[in-house]
Amino acid sequence: MNDEQATDSNGLTRRQALAAAAALCGFGAVAVTSTGAAQASGTLRVQLSRYPELKKVGGIARIDDTLGGTPVAVVRTGTKSYIALSLRCPHMGVEVTPRGSGFVCLPPGHGSVFSDTGAKVSGLTPTGLTRLNARLSKGVLTITG
Ligand code: FES
Repeated sequence: MNDEQATDSNGLTRRQALAAAAALCGFGAVAVTSTGAAQASGTLRVQLSRYPELKKVGGIARIDDTLGGTPVAVVRTGTKSYIALSLRCPHMGVEVTPRGSGFVCLPPGHGSVFSDTGAKVSGLTPTGLTRLNARLSKGVLTITG
């Protein structure tokens, strides 16, 4: 067994534990999974203070890292409340872009528009953006798929 195979009491490998520690220290949001980074789901821990867009209610931040390859945005919906959204357009999977007080699916997408909570406003998209599970603790938003 080498360092990559060794796990701590939480079942994390050395690399996963270091990545999680780096995220909690403000070095960035890091996707960490219990069984490997290749999974589509996992856990993304976001140090909210790293994103000045989130200082005010209504602010939207595109998170630097992904949740198992899925781009993610965090929206501040209240003084102590946040939501996390997948930025994959439900129409054909193009990444949507924060724009104004919502999101838009720019080319090569087809122009669908979403509200700040991810609800469909207009366009070809069949639904709104996917809401991800998010839990706030001590300034860190833990997002799971
Ligand atoms: S991929 Fe977003 S509207 Fe078509």
